[in-house]
Amino acid sequence: MRKRVLSGMRPSGQLHLGHHLGVLVNWVKLQEEHDCFFFVADWHALTTEYERTQVIRESIDDMVLDWMAAGIDPEKATVFVQSKVPAHAELHLLLSMITPLPWLERNTTYKEQLRELTTRDLQTYGFLGYPVLMSSDILMYDATLVPVGIDQVPHLELTREIGRRFNSMYKPTFTIPDQFLTRTPKLNGLDNRKMSKSYGNAILLSDTAPEVWDKVRPMVTDPARIRRTDAGNPEICNVHEYHKIFSDEKTVAWSESGCRSAGIGCIDCKKAMHENMDKVLAPIRERRKALVENGVSVKEILADGSSRANSVATKKIQEVRDAVGI
Ligand code: TRP
Ligand code: SF4
Repeated sequence: MRKRVLSGMRPSGQLHLGHHLGVLVNWVKLQEEHDCFFFVADWHALTTEYERTQVIRESIDDMVLDWMAAGIDPEKATVFVQSKVPAHAELHLLLSMITPLPWLERNTTYKEQLRELTTRDLQTYGFLGYPVLMSSDILMYDATLVPVGIDQVPHLELTREIGRRFNSMYKPTFTIPDQFLTRTPKLNGLDNRKMSKSYGNAILLSDTAPEVWDKVRPMVTDPARIRRTDAGNPEICNVHEYHKIFSDEKTVAWSESGCRSAGIGCIDCKKAMHENMDKVLAPIRERRKALVENGVSVKEILADGSSRANSVATKKIQEVRDAVGI
């Protein structure tokens, strides 16, 4: 039997290279061998964007187009929208009844986000329940593999606890998922902070090659390299970090020794890096273009996927109701 995989992404704007390397590359691999469900977590986006829901609405189709451009194939994986499968909301409600408040309040990701996302009021019932909603996404499909980044691990841990609690309180109903932390290269933003569209330091999957170059060219390098003849230290240069992700060993060594001996200029170094980075981006760009030219209908794909997800979820939620006895 093929393992069931489930993962979601919040629709919060255009996707960037960080999403690609951190999530999509992995999803694309998984869809070859597993029964994958990939979904747009629009209700999760609502927990923080409830005051500007337009972003959510406008991002969905574009995001799914980016997924497909990166290689997600809706024939292989079920691609759907969370809010189009209302059973998630019912399961969220039922799980909320048995989730002890302290489990939610001590969640480290929750506490960190309350501290950091200061531009929104997150003192809400919905935001506290974010991991309960996530638990319902996961448990609904009896997923065993749930690929997530490190920030989501506390939520996955909670999902396992909630699932176990339900199974022992009522009757064995849910498969308890395994941890599945995805190991991915750490790609920071152009300015070496976390890559995020809101920081303006991201390379978008929809950027053209010249647009990417316009972002790479002004990247800050070793500040001590003022003149071309000044030797530099690649260890403190983000361009060199990018080389390590996108270039082959020979080019990484070239950048390193050329930098230290002032044998190459920063523009040469950036040009070579950009060329290699574009080897990742060009096929995505081309696939996206072909999809658009062939008149792909993301709406139809999502309608089809959501109906597939609904048939799994409708069955499961009936089992859950029976177990609870309501
Ligand atoms: N919370 C996840 C994130 O921000 C998205 C998500 C929602 C998810 N439901 C999920 C991921 C279920 C995995 C499984 O990245
Ligand atoms: Fe950075 Fe390359 Fe310039 Fe060295 S040569 S400072 S690694 S851009």
